[in-house]
Amino acid sequence: MRIRIAIDGPSGSGKSTIAKAVAARLGFVHIDTGAMFRAVALCAYRSGKKWDNESEVLSILGGINIDIAYVQGGQRVYVSGEDVTDAVRTAEMGVGAAAVATYEGVREKLLQIQQRLVKSRNVVMDGRDIGTVVLPDAPVKIFLTASLEARVQRRLNELSAMGLTHDVDSITQQMQKRDYDDTNRASAPLKCAPDSVMVDTSDMDIEQVIETILQIIKEKGVLDV
Ligand code: C5P
Repeated sequence: MRIRIAIDGPSGSGKSTIAKAVAARLGFVHIDTGAMFRAVALCAYRSGKKWDNESEVLSILGGINIDIAYVQGGQRVYVSGEDVTDAVRTAEMGVGAAAVATYEGVREKLLQIQQRLVKSRNVVMDGRDIGTVVLPDAPVKIFLTASLEARVQRRLNELSAMGLTHDVDSITQQMQKRDYDDTNRASAPLKCAPDSVMVDTSDMDIEQVIETILQIIKEKGVLDV
């Protein structure tokens, strides 16, 4: 029986960084599902389709071939053989991802890929609907949260590490909109599963969050960490 750990939370809560580190500590594979929605947004953008037009986005879905591979422990995302891992990390693709993520057809396609990926591996999977929809039977579910201010600061740091600059106000607005859209959409909205453990990371550094999660995993008796 494979072990599945689900980590959900709003943007900037540190999900991907933490999920990657926890997976490395456990020797598990990290699956970042947000990158898959970003890849769909990138494809739509490149095909000249509008993110807010469902039929335009769905029209290209059949031709999109998304593959996930692991290179030196890190997830890489490929679209029709092209490595788009870095191209999807921009703030704009985050906005596009949140728009295309509202479409049932997009979610269904990515759900199939996500469920295939967990079949033969121990995983730490992060996203918005992992504990509620993708891995409802996961023995460990974590819901990471943090104040808006802390999340904005982290996103600014992340963008500046990539050599990209954005002002605080625009990132705050984008994040508030994304929180609203992710929480209020009809299909698989962001929410804390009833059996999730909520962890507020506002005043924690990365190492503290990792230790907290490893402790939760230990308490659940899933494995000895
Ligand atoms: O986590 P990340 O910022 O990369 O996710 C981008 C967007 O993809 C999110 O704002 C959300 O709308 C969508 N998403 C989702 N379900 C997931 C992962 C991401 O709807 N499991």
